[in-house]
Amino acid sequence: MNMFDNLSRERLRDILGAGGSHDALFAAAREALLDEPGDGVYLRGLVEVSNRCVKNCLYCGLRRERTDIRRYEMSGEEVKAALETGYRLGLRSFLLQSGELPGKAFTEKMAGILEWCSANLPGARMVLSMGELAPEDYDLLRKSGGHRYLLRIETSSAELYRRFHPNDPLHSHFRRIRALEYLRDSGWQTGTGVLIGLPGQNESHLADDLLFMKKINVDMVGMGPYVECPGTPVAEADDIPPVEKRVALTLRMIALARLTMPGINIAATTALQTLCPGGLEKGLMAGANVIMPNLTPGIYREDYDLYDGKVRVHDSPGEMLEIIRRACARTGRRLMLNDPGDPPHYRTRMEEERNGKHG
Ligand code: 5AD
Ligand code: SF4
Repeated sequence: MNMFDNLSRERLRDILGAGGSHDALFAAAREALLDEPGDGVYLRGLVEVSNRCVKNCLYCGLRRERTDIRRYEMSGEEVKAALETGYRLGLRSFLLQSGELPGKAFTEKMAGILEWCSANLPGARMVLSMGELAPEDYDLLRKSGGHRYLLRIETSSAELYRRFHPNDPLHSHFRRIRALEYLRDSGWQTGTGVLIGLPGQNESHLADDLLFMKKINVDMVGMGPYVECPGTPVAEADDIPPVEKRVALTLRMIALARLTMPGINIAATTALQTLCPGGLEKGLMAGANVIMPNLTPGIYREDYDLYDGKVRVHDSPGEMLEIIRRACARTGRRLMLNDPGDPPHYRTRMEEERNGKHG
């Protein structure tokens, strides 16, 4: 037993809201991490395939109504070249990300890329993050070689969700949860996450977010602070929490996710690095074990403009690997190259499902 066992909703809320040092919390999270999945830091090479999106989330720089950015879609050949660069550097897991593009044509193009990966990048785990799709599209992507899917719920509160998403059938909190459950139940290694430090969000919302992620039983979590994006409605709000608070809450959320959900993978996100120098190391010290170096070609990087000041827009993949190497050395962690880094939680969940079905 330690002081962070039995984390009830009230206890989570109190820890998130407490002042003073959180070193004991981070130390407990690191201890849990060493138990499972261990001290390794795993890499996911990120390719931002397209910045087009049918949705209109009020905080996001890629929202449909934003007209002052150049929209692009990488060709299949460009995506493959970016993946090969990462593979040569020793990366064995890749994240293909885009805005939400529900047409069949885009899904089929991604399926073709996944098939190429199965044949040409042996041992690589392919992660997709392209929003809510029809179940048959998820199935096609899985059949074509997709292993993992990330679909952030953004917030577990239906009420808060309504504040940040237009009230139309495209933005349904209920449907998003259903999509996440479908992914989880159809064999995907499943990830979700939330935005931290949104205006109007309090510690109780975040405590509920942790309990939501635990209940959904995800294998991976990627959460980051809200970062203002000029020209989007949320950036105009007058109740955005200060940067220091958003960073502090993000680190506490990482630590609490590590303590409440043993064996999952947790990312130290680009948004955290953007708001906080040394954010990468701080995320690792709070219990994160995944970093996502960006492999998107330079000509498209600036157009994937989710929010203001996104870091490392100019670094090459090799330079980024060096930065990550140093972050691992400074935090006493092992950089795991040539290792896809499956979350132990997935194996356990699959075993439990099999036993449940047969027992
Ligand atoms: N700040 C931080 N993260 C953001 N995202 C979108 N807009 C912002 C922002 N302003 C995140 C969302 C989405 C992911 C692709 O980017 O959580 O799921
Ligand atoms: Fe599109 Fe995702 Fe941005 Fe929403 S958060 S507008 S779904 S890219």
